[in-house]
Amino acid sequence: MKGWELVYEGYEPMQEGVRETLCTLGNGYFATRGAAHDAAGGVHYAGTYITGCYNRLSTEIDGRLLEHEDLVNMPNWLLLTYRHAGGEPFELATTEILSYRQTLDLRRGIVTRDVRVRDRKGCTTRITSTWIVHMADPHVAALEVVLTAEDWSGPIEIRAALDGWVQNRGVEIYRLLASQHLAPIDSRAVGEDSVLLEMETVRSHIRIAEAARTRVFDGDRPYAHGSAAITRPGFAARELSLELPKNRPIRIEKVVAIYTSRDFAIAAPDIAATERIAAVPTFATLVESHVLAWERLWRAFDICVEVAGTSEPSTGVILRLHVFHLLQTASEHSADLDAGVGARGLHGEAYRGHVFWDELFIFPLLNTRMADITRALLMYRYRRLAAARRAARREGYRGAMYPWQSGSDGREETPLQYFNPRSGRWIVDNTHLQRHVGAAIAYNVWQYFQVTGDVDFLGDIGAEMFLEIARFVASLATYVPERGRFEIRGVVGPDEFHTAYPGAHEPGLDNNAYTNVMSVWMLWRARDVLDALPRDRRHDVCKKLALGDDELVRWDEISRKMWLPFLDGGILAQFEGYDRLLELDWADYRARYGNIQRLDLILESEGDSPNRYKASKQADVLMLYYLFSSEELRTLFERLGYPFDPSAIPRTIDYYLRRTSDGSTLSRVVHAWVLARSRRAGSWQIARDALASDIRDIQNGTTREGIHLGAMAGSVDLIQRGYTGLELREGVIWINPRLPDPVERLDVLVRYRGHTLELTIWGDVLEVKAIEAAIPTIKLGVLGTVIELRAGERRRFALREAQS
Ligand code: BGC
Repeated sequence: MKGWELVYEGYEPMQEGVRETLCTLGNGYFATRGAAHDAAGGVHYAGTYITGCYNRLSTEIDGRLLEHEDLVNMPNWLLLTYRHAGGEPFELATTEILSYRQTLDLRRGIVTRDVRVRDRKGCTTRITSTWIVHMADPHVAALEVVLTAEDWSGPIEIRAALDGWVQNRGVEIYRLLASQHLAPIDSRAVGEDSVLLEMETVRSHIRIAEAARTRVFDGDRPYAHGSAAITRPGFAARELSLELPKNRPIRIEKVVAIYTSRDFAIAAPDIAATERIAAVPTFATLVESHVLAWERLWRAFDICVEVAGTSEPSTGVILRLHVFHLLQTASEHSADLDAGVGARGLHGEAYRGHVFWDELFIFPLLNTRMADITRALLMYRYRRLAAARRAARREGYRGAMYPWQSGSDGREETPLQYFNPRSGRWIVDNTHLQRHVGAAIAYNVWQYFQVTGDVDFLGDIGAEMFLEIARFVASLATYVPERGRFEIRGVVGPDEFHTAYPGAHEPGLDNNAYTNVMSVWMLWRARDVLDALPRDRRHDVCKKLALGDDELVRWDEISRKMWLPFLDGGILAQFEGYDRLLELDWADYRARYGNIQRLDLILESEGDSPNRYKASKQADVLMLYYLFSSEELRTLFERLGYPFDPSAIPRTIDYYLRRTSDGSTLSRVVHAWVLARSRRAGSWQIARDALASDIRDIQNGTTREGIHLGAMAGSVDLIQRGYTGLELREGVIWINPRLPDPVERLDVLVRYRGHTLELTIWGDVLEVKAIEAAIPTIKLGVLGTVIELRAGERRRFALREAQS
């Protein structure tokens, strides 16, 4: 199936980690890594993660107690092993593999593994395994294993298990940390073909129940077998014994139901799991309804791109892979779960499942396709507004200070220290000083509102968050009379290589340009947020927040008088004093180390620090050109009384591109975006690297610990918004396409204020079709002209003049 499959030929133990991550199946409620069901341990890591299920543990490191909250690895439901009666279980690692092929079918959300093996007894067996995590019923997963004894027959034993003795051991550098999050509660047989396992997280006391039903078929007919339940604390299995006939496929179906005590509309997780498993249909019926659910999602989310001269896997497959994993992490099923979207998906344990500012890269894609999911994810932030207010007050500020890393209750989860495997040292982590995370939330609120026009959301939820974050940054700003301007001191910008001045005792930097400009934008937009509300709602919000005119006047003043640092040539400085840092000898470091994406770890291991150099991990100043058009930046600069020189933009881009190691996968999305208009060839070069982030594991080993969801969603958004020049301003949807040369055709769907628009771009042509809907016309801006587009209407534009 061209354009819809990821195919792995051959068993490559060293590649298993990455394959498992990329073959993860999920539905927004939970996800399970694509690990072999018949192999545990070694190179395999079978993780299952349920949205929002965190647990806290403490570990003593260097005499200090380090408390950490992790997204918990849940009982492994996938296990299904077999052996000749009385023999050793079959193991991929010790068996002669005759052929091996694993396929991820993106259209249908199915993984299939087809293996032929010859075991020590000389028996050749074909094992075809297919599994799903159900997209319509979020509590159900299913595995089918077809065994064919090609040249033998005889008795075998099959074990279909639920294993609760799993730990969080998926990330190498966390191995020193406590990892036993689950304790056994119950395991028992349920009926004659099922078992139930119940576990509980040790601190957050979330109960998890998994029930599994295992049946055997010859074609569609039940196949005779013995079945016994094996239950002990933390483990429940069915052991089946049967005669495997020669050359006749025998099918084993294992269907699983998963519930937790966080679910709605259940009496108790074990009751829910037991009842569900008793009524769950056959594997084939489940696959049917699962595929139907994916069909519906693809109707809303598909994106088609034709790129000249690409090799497999093609750009089209990668874009679908990215959309696929986004929808498996955040879907309609996550909406009720009070969960944010973790930076590494539900695909592994890196960053412990925490939520960062990566939403800034993820929400735009959701906004234009299924904005209800964005709304639900913004609710995760809203429910933690009180925690953010408390955090601000604790530090002597006003408003809401959101944490850099967020987990279950919205407190700061950034660890105090992180481990550098190069030096073997624990390093103090000051990245929690990234106060700009609140700006990302405010920006997301505004963008969601721009796309949907959802005034109810803005009035009831969005405005309160936005204004409280604005209030926080206003309280961060201090007036410096000598400059006649406001400053924000002691923060860290998006570039995590710079957390302090060289030799300083205290962490933090002054006047990080990104933080300052984002603060100005919020304090200026605050008026628009209020103006967008009906009078009574505006009144209510202001009353609730005790937000009076005097405060708004002060915000207005700060938004006109914020200090911005500059380098020569009108280039924005990353922060005050950046000009005094040393230039790094990039060529020398590349020659000595090859991959220098994590230059911070390299420098630390040399007893040095990136704080001394003009060397960034990721886009920082350039984030501004990613988030704002040059017209918007002009408005902000003019407001601040700084000259806005458009010719400084390419200089600024070049300056920072040369000084950035791209140690975060987010960075390439930004760089490709900012080059999209000026240097299309260069942009595409970087875009291809951004698209390769996970499929080629370009960070040398981080993909096995989870996907990079920001880069995944951001790279799709780069194609759909960046290269189509899609902007939402003043109630108009603007489209100004500039496809990079190798991209020959692009088809995207965009939802905007109730309309579904089909955009097709090829050659010099843009076609926009408003798919039928009984709603008012919208304003569409192309080639500088705004037209009214009616539901059902199709318009074609010649783009040549726009691109000259
Ligand atoms: C980046 C952050 C990002 C985090 C999670 C870090 O490496 O520097 O910007 O939020 O990863 O993706």
